[in-house]
Amino acid sequence: MSTVQTSSDAPGREERVHLQTYARQPITLISGHGCWVTDDAGREYLDLVAGIAVNVLGHSHPAVAEAVARQAATLVQVSNLYYTLPQLELAEELVSRSPFDRAFFTNSGTEANEAALKLARRHGGERGAHEVVSLVGSFHGRTFGSLAATGQPTYQAPFAPLPPGFRHVTPNDVDQLDATVTDATCAVLLEPIMGEGGVHPLTDEFLIAARAACDRVGALLILDEIQTGVGRTGTFFAFEQTPIVPDAVTLAKGLAGGIPIGALLVRERAAAFKIGDHGTTLGGNPVSCAAGLATLHVIDTDDLMANARARGAQLVEALAKLLADGVLAEVRGRGLMLGLETAKPIARAAVAVARDHHGLLINATGDSTIRLVPPLTIGADEVDLAVERLEAALADAGSAT
Ligand SMILES: Cc1ncc(COP(=O)(O)O)c(C=O)c1O
Repeated sequence: MSTVQTSSDAPGREERVHLQTYARQPITLISGHGCWVTDDAGREYLDLVAGIAVNVLGHSHPAVAEAVARQAATLVQVSNLYYTLPQLELAEELVSRSPFDRAFFTNSGTEANEAALKLARRHGGERGAHEVVSLVGSFHGRTFGSLAATGQPTYQAPFAPLPPGFRHVTPNDVDQLDATVTDATCAVLLEPIMGEGGVHPLTDEFLIAARAACDRVGALLILDEIQTGVGRTGTFFAFEQTPIVPDAVTLAKGLAGGIPIGALLVRERAAAFKIGDHGTTLGGNPVSCAAGLATLHVIDTDDLMANARARGAQLVEALAKLLADGVLAEVRGRGLMLGLETAKPIARAAVAVARDHHGLLINATGDSTIRLVPPLTIGADEVDLAVERLEAALADAGSAT
């Protein structure tokens, strides 16, 4: 058995050769299995981050490993000049489990949103509508179109001017939404639960108003389910737990169990692209799509959406004690996408102490918000252990302030 080599010089090496754009945690991860990852010193961590809501099957799932290896040994990439069966089968699979009629595959979430934005402009162009309405505090990605839709000035300001035609409204403010959606609007783009913004679910009332506003002017309602999709909230799409059906959704993150992929799914009436309107060299390549098919298969056969609901409920129940004790002010979210509001601004300190002293990886989306997005495969015992470790980390972080 090979021994894990310590490479604690990774931060220094990275600082010399990588563009300095990531505020990385000071650990180097070498391997992973299920809900656990191991660092270069052989320390094990229970992972409630899962590659930022990506590894729905956990780490190194044999079905993904086998699908990737098999497809890599058969056909890796031929571009979209030709038909390939894994892409076709993944499109058929996604269409069959959704109200959508067509798919377009990309390599990432932000590219899926770029595709959605271009589709909305193409659709709206027929009646001269070009504006996209999204939310203050939203996150849609880092490329220019997605960044313009993202409602967070800190990400946007250094890159101004951004593409024009993007308007932002306050989440759950129906009157503001109604006033902002006009004949100039080609799409309303919403995360059903704002993820990077701190795990804030939109109200049913707001979603119904968004659907009605889009129908009023002929705009597309597009949901960014890049973080909420692929079973994370306990249903395949988060919108299945709401009264609305969008015209299009974007997916990415967990869709191929950790292999890069993104997807735009659209209903026929929104399928405005014509031949040549959009494209990508690697998007929908056979390896990513084979991993996607394997991931969907395991989600079904292992009933992982039911597990997401059960383990999510278990987490919420166990966290009630921390709410009662006044350590947490709020627990929100659905399934295995939870946001914990700490009573004191100790979220970032808790992340560090959990990692360094309690073998637990968690993530902070703000000074007082901890996000839990573990693999959908997490077991009941692992949830108990995670809560035990989280409680200890919050106590340590609280007493240090
Ligand atoms: C809701 C949402 N949209 C888009 C993105 C961007 O996805 P990617 O990082 O794959 O480009 C993210 C990533 O965190 C996200 O959470």
